This record gives sequence, structure tokens and C-alpha cells, in this order.
Amino acid sequence: MEFFEIVGGNRLKGPIEIGGAKNSALPIMAASILVEGETILRNVPDLADVRQMQTLLSKLGVKTFRDDSGAMHLRVEDEMNTHAEYELVSKMRASVCVMGPLVAKRRRAQVSMPGGCAIGDRPIDLHLRGLEALGVEWELVNGDVVQRAKKLTGTDIFLGGPFGSSVTATANVMMAATLAQGRTVIESAACEPELTDLANFLNACGAQITGHGTPQIVIEGVAKLHGCEHRVIADRIEAGTFMIAAAITNGDLELQGARIEHMHAVVDRLRRVGVLIERAEKGVTVSTSRRLEPVQVTTQPYPGFPTDLQAQMMALLSLADGNSMITEKIFPDRFLHVGELNRMGALLRKEGPTVIIEGVKRLIGAPVMASDLRASAALIIAGLVAKGTTRVHRAYHIDRGYERIEEKLAKVGANIRRVSE
Ligand code: EPU
Repeated sequence: MEFFEIVGGNRLKGPIEIGGAKNSALPIMAASILVEGETILRNVPDLADVRQMQTLLSKLGVKTFRDDSGAMHLRVEDEMNTHAEYELVSKMRASVCVMGPLVAKRRRAQVSMPGGCAIGDRPIDLHLRGLEALGVEWELVNGDVVQRAKKLTGTDIFLGGPFGSSVTATANVMMAATLAQGRTVIESAACEPELTDLANFLNACGAQITGHGTPQIVIEGVAKLHGCEHRVIADRIEAGTFMIAAAITNGDLELQGARIEHMHAVVDRLRRVGVLIERAEKGVTVSTSRRLEPVQVTTQPYPGFPTDLQAQMMALLSLADGNSMITEKIFPDRFLHVGELNRMGALLRKEGPTVIIEGVKRLIGAPVMASDLRASAALIIAGLVAKGTTRVHRAYHIDRGYERIEEKLAKVGANIRRVSE
């Protein structure tokens, strides 16, 4: 087991390169199941989740490797296996992204039903409803969703759920519809930039998708998809995490490659806190020189404030000069970091899906336990500014979604190291 040891108090200063987006790379990799020929993906981050997707794809007959330049090559070599087993799906929920491509291309998919996880219940009813509308029949067998389809036919599909649209359900239905007969119109589609990236990838492979990035996506089915080369967009959640790290350490960072146009809600909230954020030639600069103002934050589907930055924002607001409030509208139970931040001296009180944050003067280093990817990032951020030493246990959570985070932070001045227990 590894943990991160952080001695707080250093100001972060300098350039950090932002990697490719995990939540773009994973569905795009899954989409390679649809493709005849070679897919070449650039800017795929080197993450535990990406390696996990490679393992799953290799079991499903897709050969993947990285060449000397780091580009990932993917090619379907065998279409026999259509079973994404419990062992893999339970480790990584994004495995569910193989469902649409498998049933569209191979007419059969058996994907273990993902259970809940540290951030709450995560149903897949919208994925199933959307695929069913395209003509897929399914049943639950022994914990697996077993799907079959004689043919897929385009239709109108409403993908709205109780918490708005679903990112990976939109991905699954969009991917499957590329090979359906006729036109599919997805209403209440998710608008996240990662889905736009997926649609751009599919179009480069010969799909005919329009409206991506809006709540209405139109897909004209085609007979087949061919290989292409594609560059994955920059990770807005990694960029947002480093923006918050700069803000909390009174720092001055240049986030190279970050795309401010994907981060309007985050930039807006951070500017209200008092953080200076500017477009720069190579990305975005972030600095702060004054006290942190309290703000209210509500997480929402894109273009709203992302749930994937809620925990990190909470760490920052725990040091604001007054009371803030964060309401979580996507995953109302995504608050396992609250108790851990309180162990470091924060004053956080949870009331239903809202956390009231009473700003304190300082955080104090402590041993804390990471519970999921973004909660771990919040604890590292808190550790960067806390007085004394913080140990963030279960480093593996962070490796799922941040590439070499301790190296990137150490390069800009943080006192952080990875330790094996
Ligand atoms: N939902 C349903 N039914 C469904 C699917 C979702 O009710 O069939 C609900 C969920 O319970 C939740 C809401 O809809 O309340 C939104 O969930 P969504 O399906 O959009 O989440 P996801 O597609 O499973 C992706 C990201 C998550 C990110 C969420 C929200 C990937 C691989 N994962 O998950 O990323 O938090 O969208 O933006 O794209 C992370 O990177 O740390 C992470 C968890």
C-alpha cells in the first residue's frame, strides 16, 4: 500500500502540463470496438483506469499498445468474446462504456451490472432504456446484463433522468446509434466536452453525428466505421484541481494546455473567491494574492460546476473568510471527504445534499484516508497548505485519474512524496 506524505506551507509556482482527459479517453477507447482498422489515439493519459480499460479491451479481442511517441494503437482482432466480467467492471465503472459498442457491432453484450461505489448509487437504467429503444433486448442473468440485438434501428430517445442527463449513457447510446439503420435523435443528451470529443472521434471514423455538445444529438446510422487518428482533449478536471491547488497555496501556476472554454463555471466560482485566472499563450495562468471570499456552489451537469471538482472546492472554501455552502446535485452522497477534512481542522457540516462550510484560519496536517479519486485530490490539496505533515492513505485512488500527481506538484514547489508502507 502506498500513501502520499505532504508537508504543507509551500507556495506553488511555475508551469504544469495538463494531460489528456480520462473521461474522454475511456469511452473513446471503448468505441474502438466499433472500428474496422486501426485507431490511433494521442494524448491518452497514463492512468490506472486507462490500463484497466486496456485489460478489458484485450479480453474483448482488441489489441492495444503504445508506440515510442506514447500514442495508443487499438485494433479489433477477434470478435468472439462479448463478456465484460464482474472482476473488471467492479474495479472501474467506466467499463460500462463497452456495452453500446459491443451490442451494436457484435449483436451481443454481457456486461456485469456495476454496483454502487464510494460516491453513491449509480444506476444504469438510462443506458438500458436508450439501447432498448434502438432494438436491443436484455435480461439480467446472475448479475450480468445480457443483451442481444438482431438489428439496431434509429429512433427518438429521451435520456433525461432524475438528476438530468447521464454522461456515459449518452456515450453508450451515441456509440451504438452510429451503426443503427436510419436516424437516431437523442433528446436531453449530456453536453460534457468529453462527449463532444467522443463524437468528433466517431465522425473522424466515418460516423455522421451532429448536435454534439447540445442537448439534442442527431446520428445518421452508417454501415461501418473505419480507423482514424485522434487527439484526446485536455483534462478539465485535472486543470481545475491544479487551479484550486494554486489558489489554496497563494500560488502562481501556468496550466499548459488547459482549455478555459471548457471551464467557465469553475473559473466563475474561483474568480468570485478572489482567484486571478487569465488565458495565456500556452493555456491558463492562475494566481492569488488576497484573502479567499466565501461563495455558494451547486454542482450541475455541464456547463454547470462539475461534481468532479466539488471535493477540491470544499478544501479551498474551508479556508475562506466566512461561510460558504456547497450543494451536490449530481451524486448527493458524494461527501466522504467531509469527515476527513474535518480531521484536518475544517469546520464542515453536512445537511442532506448540502455542506455548510465555516471558514477557518488554518488546516492542520493529519493522517487521512482517501475514499475515491476526487476526494483524494481534495485531501492532497488540503495537505499542501495544512500546518505540519499530512498523510493521504490509499494512494491508488489518485492514480486512477491523475498522472504522476506528486511529480507534477513537486516540480512547482510542493513538498510531497509517495511512500510505500
Ligand atoms: N443516473 C441515473 N441513471 C443512469 C445513469 C445515471 O439515474 O442510468 C444518474 C446518476 O446516479 C447521477 C446522474 O445520473 O445522479 C449523473 O450520472 P452520470 O451517468 O452522468 O455519471 P457517469 O456517466 O457514470 C461520468 C464520469 C464521472 C462524473 C459523472 C458526472 C466518466 C467515465 N465518468 O460518470 O467521473 O462524475 O459523469 O459528471 O465519464 C470521475 O472522473 O471522478 C468520475 C466519477
